[in-house]
Amino acid sequence: MESSVDLRMFVFLILISPIWATKDEHHSFPNNFLFGTASSAYQFEGAYLSDGKGLNNWDVYTNTSGNIIDGSNGNVAIDHYHRYMEDTELMQSLGVNSHRFSISWARILPRGRHGGVNLPGINFYNNLIDSLLDKGIKPFVTLSHYDLPQELEDRYGSWLHKDIQEDFAYYADVCFGAFGDRVQYWATFNEPNIIAMQGYRTGLYPPSRCSKPFGNCTYGDSEKEPFIVAHNIILSHMKAVKIYRTKYQKKQGGSIGFIVNAIWFEPISNSIADRLAAKRALSFLVNWFLDPIIFGKYPVEMQEILGSTLPTFSRNHQMDLQNGLDFIGINHYTTLYVKDCMFSSCGNGMGCSRTEGFACQTGQKNKVPIGEPTVMEWYYVTPQGMEDMVMYLKERYNNKPIFVTENGYPDENWANATIKDFLYDINRVNYMRSYLDSLATAISKGADVRGYFAWALLDNFEWISGYTKRFGLHHVDFKTMKRTPKLSATWYKQYIANHSTIKGTTHERNQEYLQSY
Ligand SMILES: *[C@@H]1O[C@H](CO)[C@@H](O)[C@H](O)[C@H]1NC(C)=O
Ligand SMILES: *[C@@H]1O[C@H](CO)[C@@H](O)[C@H](O)[C@H]1NC(C)=O
Ligand SMILES: *[C@@H]1O[C@H](CO)[C@@H](O)[C@H](O)[C@H]1NC(C)=O
Ligand SMILES: *[C@@H]1O[C@H](CO)[C@@H](O)[C@H](O)[C@H]1NC(C)=O
Repeated sequence: MESSVDLRMFVFLILISPIWATKDEHHSFPNNFLFGTASSAYQFEGAYLSDGKGLNNWDVYTNTSGNIIDGSNGNVAIDHYHRYMEDTELMQSLGVNSHRFSISWARILPRGRHGGVNLPGINFYNNLIDSLLDKGIKPFVTLSHYDLPQELEDRYGSWLHKDIQEDFAYYADVCFGAFGDRVQYWATFNEPNIIAMQGYRTGLYPPSRCSKPFGNCTYGDSEKEPFIVAHNIILSHMKAVKIYRTKYQKKQGGSIGFIVNAIWFEPISNSIADRLAAKRALSFLVNWFLDPIIFGKYPVEMQEILGSTLPTFSRNHQMDLQNGLDFIGINHYTTLYVKDCMFSSCGNGMGCSRTEGFACQTGQKNKVPIGEPTVMEWYYVTPQGMEDMVMYLKERYNNKPIFVTENGYPDENWANATIKDFLYDINRVNYMRSYLDSLATAISKGADVRGYFAWALLDNFEWISGYTKRFGLHHVDFKTMKRTPKLSATWYKQYIANHSTIKGTTHERNQEYLQSY
């Protein structure tokens, strides 16, 4: 295919060019495009017992030995709770006009709707939001980024039980009420497809539920529970959107969306079977959530394969779900090959069960990796996938506004490395440049992309990988908490300056923003 030739040439040019010297005046971003950084509460904040916060599922999960690779946890994380001022200053020096963070549910509602609102928690986010706005940085807020009050797990099994819908709606209402006068961008969920798969199929995330052969858990049913969990999450989203649209949106003028983990899938061959398998892989990962929220029903491929395992929506829910978001958020990092395995096995690949749509996923074709491998398994440098993913969503969902809510590159936290090794992160620079160029191509082809958030502002707690992976534009010394900009921070700053269409001083930007209400 022609595009792969272009891609190879493109990668070649990157390799031979000095790092600052790409000319890209043909790559432009729309007016008011958000160039941002990203974070999440559990990975950044720490302060896990401070000021009335309740325990959440990750506080509990990380407290069992064997769950996290390096035996670490987010009890202190990178202490963003106490250092948010310094951190917003780092953002300001990058010149980002937006920052994405999540609210810790248990910090605001330590016992869900079964107890009171924790005012110190509200104060923390008020201070963070005000500190961002002071610097002309628009808050982009996620309500649920993996963590939830442990009480909801203990009481009724969290996402497995329909009561979670009321709890989530209540939580969302509290947040819109407390912060919505200053927040224009709301995402209900971050990567609920990963919550469903890792929490309830492989059992690698809390609440560690699964069944054989998918994993070795004490409780669970890998073939059924992910779909029940997804269903409750979709209906929780729907209820929060309904509250936002009826009670807040007119007055507050913001928008509300939903963020999925979005791997792009490339058929491993041109055969019809493999092309259909690649489509199924996307349906079972991405459209699983977006189809119901936008069209009111699950993808046809899922209905056909899963039959009565897939829950159904009532007539009322179908009505309420139509057009149930203002934007799609994607966390996009990589592309994988897919091979049909309806009647065959998958070798070392994954994805080859009925539950996963018989779509064998692999990073290699004839032992050649799909892109440069990274230190994360199943994670390759494949920039073309950004354009392909965005164009696919554009076509399928009638050009709904899209935000790339995460994209970034991991380094291994080698014990033998010096800080200098981490600071000269040329691989991250090349990764971000190639993905941003690919995104710009999608925009030039008409995709309505409104923003890009680099994962992550700072090195942080990477879930079950603990502190063994570093994704930050800034290095964090996990002992002293000292933050130091990497080459990628300097590069991103210049990239934003070159491409930003928002002119004026921070103060002018801030005034313009406040007047937009
Ligand atoms: C962690 O486990 C210890 C020992 O079982 C217990 O005392 C402590 O309360 C637990 N902490 C959390 C956050 O669950
Ligand atoms: C599953 O876990 C149990 C209990 O820890 C252990 O005895 C068993 O060997 C494990 N089985 C597999 C297949 O890993
Ligand atoms: C550290 O050790 C690993 C192997 O354990 C090696 O691959 C890596 O290059 C080393 N890094 C540095 C900076 O010396
Ligand atoms: C920004 O633009 C300058 C001037 O055209 C160019 O030299 C530089 O390479 C660009 N930097 C980035 C990161 O795009």
